[in-house]
Amino acid sequence: MRYDYFKPISESIFWIGSNDRETDRFEGLWPLPHGVAYNSYLLLGEKNILIDTVKGSFAGGLSEKISAALAGKPLDYVIVNHMEPDHSGSLNAIRAAYPGVQLIGNAKTAEMLKNFFGIGENVLTVADGESLELGSRRFTFALTPMVHWPESMVAYDATDRILFSSDIFGGFGATEGGIFDDEADMRMAIEEMMRYYVNIVGRFAAPALKALFKVRALDIKTICPAHGLIWRNDPGRVIGLYEKWSRQETESGVVVVYGTMYGNTKSACDAIAGSLAENGAGCVRVYDISRCDLSRVTTDIWRNRGLVLASCTYNMELFPPMAALLRHLENKNMKGRHIGLCGTHSWADASLREMSEFVERSKGWALVPPKISIKSRPTADDFEQCRLLAANMAEALKTHSTD
Ligand SMILES: [Fe+2]
Ligand SMILES: [Fe+2]
Repeated sequence: MRYDYFKPISESIFWIGSNDRETDRFEGLWPLPHGVAYNSYLLLGEKNILIDTVKGSFAGGLSEKISAALAGKPLDYVIVNHMEPDHSGSLNAIRAAYPGVQLIGNAKTAEMLKNFFGIGENVLTVADGESLELGSRRFTFALTPMVHWPESMVAYDATDRILFSSDIFGGFGATEGGIFDDEADMRMAIEEMMRYYVNIVGRFAAPALKALFKVRALDIKTICPAHGLIWRNDPGRVIGLYEKWSRQETESGVVVVYGTMYGNTKSACDAIAGSLAENGAGCVRVYDISRCDLSRVTTDIWRNRGLVLASCTYNMELFPPMAALLRHLENKNMKGRHIGLCGTHSWADASLREMSEFVERSKGWALVPPKISIKSRPTADDFEQCRLLAANMAEALKTHSTD
């Protein structure tokens, strides 16, 4: 094939996705230091089938690859596993090139096809667990609502035992040459996959677990997600990772996040972090919330069992970047973790009050005493409180239970 990144998965199945290294922020929110791949798959045979498309700005490249591969033959079906425009954005371009093509989705997909693209014809709907013979291939569809949207589904090709898993098992990161799990830098791939999971899918950890039950029941040789690596060597590994993250299984470490204007809250935090290390609290990571990427710090918080938040007060409210973190964390419904709080102020004690309200609302966090309130600048007594909080946190992690 003369096209870059036209990768064979088998004799008749090809990856024809797009590598996006131009978009700065996924969904307008999440930084993409390594880009992102929109995976689209073309299955050639008695019937020619496309599984998902790519973001609209890459439609031209996708159409070229399809046309080169089909060499005048028709495109019969597009399986639309997910309607988020990073996957559906090229549908109208494909329909324009292949007017007879049938789209396959579920009832919710059909509604979104109308709302997003005005598509109401040539749409075949499938129900959960339904199978379809498409030429010589037999597909079974499983609905996986909320992983990542209500209409999300996966398609299992029983002929080649391939699961086209949509956003499930997806990750950030454009293709770095290798597209398969046996070709890639796995450390980076898994880190970017976890950052994708926590920030994009994390809120839906419970539906993700339900989806995994459906996936587990299948005899899978290869997993082809809509982003990130294709798992042909060890699909069990990615299923195991997803199970761990969806169950919110944590490691014994502590993330310390501070918001500071003039360094006083930072000095309390350094004392807490130092004492955590001395008390053997596991891996300790310290972030300045004004200077870190929200998706990165949230991923570390998801991974670790302990969290310490320390923040100044700003204009009689919680420091804005810390307020943004709390809002993001609350959205994620994290459970089974321990949290310590330290608030600083000079005349209005808003930071500790707002962080305490967050803990009360969230339910999934066990508060580790003492709650530290510092006026303007930490005193020797305040530093003593910091050491006590760190010791209590280390102890809580050792005897882990949030009941
Ligand atoms: Fe999505
Ligand atoms: Fe996606």
